[in-house]
Amino acid sequence: MSQPSQKSQTSKPRKQIHLAAHFPGVNNTTVWSDPRSGSHIEFDSFLRFAQTAERAKFDFLFLAEGLRLREQGGQIYDLDVVGRPDTFTILAALAAVTERLGLAGTINSTFNEPYEVARQFASLDHLSGGRAAWNVVTSWDAFTGENFRRGGYLAQEDRYERAKLFMRTAWELFDSWRGDEIVADKENGVFLADPGAGTFERHDAQFDIRGRFDVPRSPQGRPVIFQAGDSDEGREFAAATADAIFSRHATLEAGQAFYTDVKGRLTKYGRTPEQLLILPAATFVLADTDGEAREYAHVVRRQQVSGQTAIRFLEQLWNRDLSEYDPDGPLPDVDPVVGENTIARGRASVRMYRDPLQTAREWRELAEAKKLSIRELMIEVTGRQSFVGSPTTVADEIDDLVQRDASDGFILVPHITPDGLDDFADKVVPILQERGVFRTDYAGTTLRDHLGLAPLEVPLPARRR
Ligand SMILES: Cc1cc2nc3c(=O)[nH]c(=O)nc-3n(C[C@H](O)[C@H](O)[C@H](O)COP(=O)(O)O)c2cc1C
Repeated sequence: MSQPSQKSQTSKPRKQIHLAAHFPGVNNTTVWSDPRSGSHIEFDSFLRFAQTAERAKFDFLFLAEGLRLREQGGQIYDLDVVGRPDTFTILAALAAVTERLGLAGTINSTFNEPYEVARQFASLDHLSGGRAAWNVVTSWDAFTGENFRRGGYLAQEDRYERAKLFMRTAWELFDSWRGDEIVADKENGVFLADPGAGTFERHDAQFDIRGRFDVPRSPQGRPVIFQAGDSDEGREFAAATADAIFSRHATLEAGQAFYTDVKGRLTKYGRTPEQLLILPAATFVLADTDGEAREYAHVVRRQQVSGQTAIRFLEQLWNRDLSEYDPDGPLPDVDPVVGENTIARGRASVRMYRDPLQTAREWRELAEAKKLSIRELMIEVTGRQSFVGSPTTVADEIDDLVQRDASDGFILVPHITPDGLDDFADKVVPILQERGVFRTDYAGTTLRDHLGLAPLEVPLPARRR
C-alpha cells in the first residue's frame, strides 16, 4: 500500500500540456486540393476553426504571416494557398465570437513601426479581455521589403538588433499607462486622474519618437510575446524577451536539444525555465488504428508533395530551373547554383539550406541508397507529419514528449482547413483530459492564465517624466 504513494512523492509531477491551433497559412502542409478543404479567406473558416479550438479548451489560436506573395521562377507560387487576410482584422473579429481562446498573431518587427503595432495589440488585448499574443518575427528579405515604404533596408544580421529595440519601445508604450488613470468622474468633470497618461519618449539607433500613447493599459498589460526564429541570435532574443517560442523541433531528440539549449539561456537574463514555454509546430494524421493512420498519412504526403511541388522544392535548393525534369525520375546530375537564391523568393525554407552543395550530396546519397525518385525523395526530406496513429497512440506520444521535456506542448497544424482540427478535438483531447495532463475547462480568463505565466507586475514603477 505504501509503495505507490512513496513513488508519487518522489517522482516528478506530471506537466500540464499546452495545446494551440495553427490556422494553416501558405505552405504545402495545407492540402487545399482535398475535397474537404474549404476557404482560407472567408470568415466562416476562421470561425469554425476557432470554435473547435475553444471547445477543446486549447490555449490559443495561432496565425502565421507572410508579407508578400511568394514567387518562383518569376511567377506567383500557386502550388500552396495564395493570399490571406490581415492578421489583426481576423483576430479582432474572432475576439467577438470566442470567450477564452487566446489569439496569437505573427507580426514582423522589420517592416512595421512600434507605435502602430503596440496600438493594435493593446487594442486587441482590450477587445478580447486579455487574450492577445504577438509572435515577433524578423523575416524576410529585400524582396518582401519592396512592398514597404522603406524597402528591404536591413541586412539579416541587423534584424534582431531592430527587433530588440522594437520590443523595448513597444514595452515603453504599453507601460506608459499604469491602469489607474481613467476615473471618469462625472460629478467633477474629471476623466483622467493623471495628466501624464501615455507619455513616452524613445531615442535609439532605430527609433526617434516621443508623444502620448493613446491606448490605456490593457488587461494583460501587454500581449504575451512569442518568438519564432532558430538562429543563435533568435534564441538569445527569445531568452531575453519572449514568453513562448514557436519552434520547428517536434521530435524527441531535436526537441530535447532545443529545449535544453533555450531554457539554459534564461539564467543570464534573470529568468526561470517556467517563464519561457517551448511550443513546436506539429502536424497529425488520425485514424481508428495505427495501420490505417500510416496508410492515410502516406496519402496525405502525396497530396502535400505533388510531382510539380517536388520539382519546385528541388529548384529551391538547386536555385535553377528544373522544370524539364521528371518528378518520377532521378535527381539532376547538375549541381545547385551557389550564391544568392534568385529562383525562389519570399520563402523561409530557402535560407534553411546553408550549404546547398552539401545538402545536394546528402540527398543524392539518400536517393541512391533507398532508390528514390525526385518526388519520393522530396516526400522523405520535407516530412512534416509529427503524429501519426490512433487517438491513443497520438495522445501517448504527445504526453511522452512533454513529460520528457522535448516541449511544453504543441501548436497543431491540421492539413485540412477549417475542419481538420475536429478529430483531434473529439478524439485525442478527451484521452489527455482523462490522464489529467490537459485541462477540462479554462481556469482563468487571460492567455497568460492559460499558459501558466505569472501576471505582470502592477502597479508599474513610477512613470519616467
Ligand atoms: C517555426 C517557425 C515559424 C515561422 N513563422 C513565420 C511566419 O509566419 N512569418 C514570418 O514572417 N516568419 C516566420 N518565421 C521566420 C522567423 O520568424 C525568423 O524571422 C527567421 O527564421 C529568421 O530568423 P532566424 O535566423 O533566427 O531563424 C518562422 C520561423 C520558425 C522557426
